[in-house]
Amino acid sequence: MKIISSPQLLQEEIIKLKRKGNTIGFVPTMGYLHDGHLSLIRRARKDCDVVVVSIFVNPLQFGPREDLKKYPRNFKKDSALCKKYTDILFYPNVREMYPDDFLTEIEVNKLSNVLCGASRPGHFKGVATVVNKLFNIIFPDMAYFGQKDAQQAVIIKKMVKDLNIPADIKVMPTVREKDGLAMSSRNSYLSRQERGDAAVLYRSLILAKNMVKKGATDSNKIISKMRNLILNKKSAKIDYISIVNPETLDPLKKMNKQALVLLAVFVGKTRLIDNILIRR
Ligand code: PAJ
Repeated sequence: MKIISSPQLLQEEIIKLKRKGNTIGFVPTMGYLHDGHLSLIRRARKDCDVVVVSIFVNPLQFGPREDLKKYPRNFKKDSALCKKYTDILFYPNVREMYPDDFLTEIEVNKLSNVLCGASRPGHFKGVATVVNKLFNIIFPDMAYFGQKDAQQAVIIKKMVKDLNIPADIKVMPTVREKDGLAMSSRNSYLSRQERGDAAVLYRSLILAKNMVKKGATDSNKIISKMRNLILNKKSAKIDYISIVNPETLDPLKKMNKQALVLLAVFVGKTRLIDNILIRR
């Protein structure tokens, strides 16, 4: 596995590899890798000739009062974890990605301002900008994202379509802990008590799924039951629970053929997200 930190050197390397006819699979991450990340990397390994993983804690997607400084980092462990499946690990520093004179931003309107975008203004602009930049350095044939960050995946797909980016976006299932909690680098912030409480997020999504199975159609009723279940946990504070069209992210009053149930909940000070796709 080659570790490259210069965007220019990586771009030159990729151009050489593509000229030789290799397909490029790309997995963007912010590091502190877990099995969720690794599931994407393994899939890229299966699908593509060359696997590129990036580790970059992107300052553009963190709000001024968010956890940029304390975001967990462990490059040694990360590089050991992905070595087996990865050909090139891209590990740029902030100055190389955003020199002082950096001015350009990518905004995917509408989709970026709802749900997590409403609670985290500018977040998805930061995500779209960095992913666009990474795509222009790496020219991936396929790029892998997790369903765990459902809104992010919808936004990246829309950006790729709108801007004619020649990459195939693959969205892979959420990898969970034994008790259902979606794996996340941010789970490391949780105390023992909070870690136990956090399992209620997934339980509330399963509750929604079971209600629909039994015939429930009214989104508000489903959300209200989920809310009650979550608020049984003292450490939990709900940011939002929403039921939307999985492609447009427009709210659904009634359950459709396909509905995406999403939530963001503070467990203690840690903001966790999760979602489930429900088909009727
Ligand atoms: P990060 O949170 O490190 O996640 C990197 C990728 O791993 C994302 O596509 C995310 O959806 C996926 N992922 C995280 N947890 C997962 C889980 N439990 N199961 C399956 N996939 C999971 O998302 C980002 O970084 C950043 O916003 C990024 C796209 C790298 C841009 O900076």
